[in-house]
Amino acid sequence: MTAISLSHLRAHRDAGTKFSMVTAYDACFAEAASAAGIDCLLVGDSLGMVLQGHASTLPVTVQDMAYHTRCVASAKPDSFVIADMPFMAAATLDTAMQAAQTLMQQGAQMIKLEGSTHLTELIRRYRDQGVPTCCHLGLTPQFVNQFGGYKVQGRDQRTADQMVEAAISLEAAGADMLLLECVPNALTTRIMKATTVPVVGIGAGPEPTGQVLVMHDLLGITPGKPARFVKNFLEGQSSIQAALRAYDQAVKDGHFPAQAHCFAE
Ligand code: KIV
Repeated sequence: MTAISLSHLRAHRDAGTKFSMVTAYDACFAEAASAAGIDCLLVGDSLGMVLQGHASTLPVTVQDMAYHTRCVASAKPDSFVIADMPFMAAATLDTAMQAAQTLMQQGAQMIKLEGSTHLTELIRRYRDQGVPTCCHLGLTPQFVNQFGGYKVQGRDQRTADQMVEAAISLEAAGADMLLLECVPNALTTRIMKATTVPVVGIGAGPEPTGQVLVMHDLLGITPGKPARFVKNFLEGQSSIQAALRAYDQAVKDGHFPAQAHCFAE
């Protein structure tokens, strides 16, 4: 596989073709996912839950993210590496710039931030400094306490309209990618129509340009009842490598997500 860049991901959006993304937190899984043809590796702050055993992503620090970004980048994957900005790290312009510098210098090629229109000024600053950004909308896990749980977002007209407006203003500010988590399919359609950058979905229906899953969910090893949008790709496969290839293929040929993994309304 040739090294994936932002231009490849933009080309998918323009051509209407799909790309795959999975979370990775270490060199071994980064190498396996890259070898399986997965286009993007997300060093997600979900590591706070799946690696560190916390009940939420809130305890994750910039130092944690830097360590795991360095581990992933050390595999020299062909996949495009995205690192999460952890909880409150972008609360001030100074800390936001410092954290992005740290993560990019550890090997991230893009920074993902959770939030909404309040991010526009920061996204402009990052663009001016050469930091590509992905804005995570919908069910943003760092806001779990405000949401009162991990719930589908944008189900009512007002919050749906606000999310469409946020997507438009974040793209205008320079966001290079959007990520929609747990939103109804119809809202994804509206956001796709209103924007031109690649859109990645998780529980956001079949329409986005890319799909992402947490590695541990994809392999069926997350304890407890899986979320609706999760599919265990290890089932029926004889190895982790085969499961990753099956996921990549299912995303690219449009078989994943099926309606059973989506929120119709
Ligand atoms: O942290 C993470 O793994 C994420 C994905 C669930 C999109 O943000």
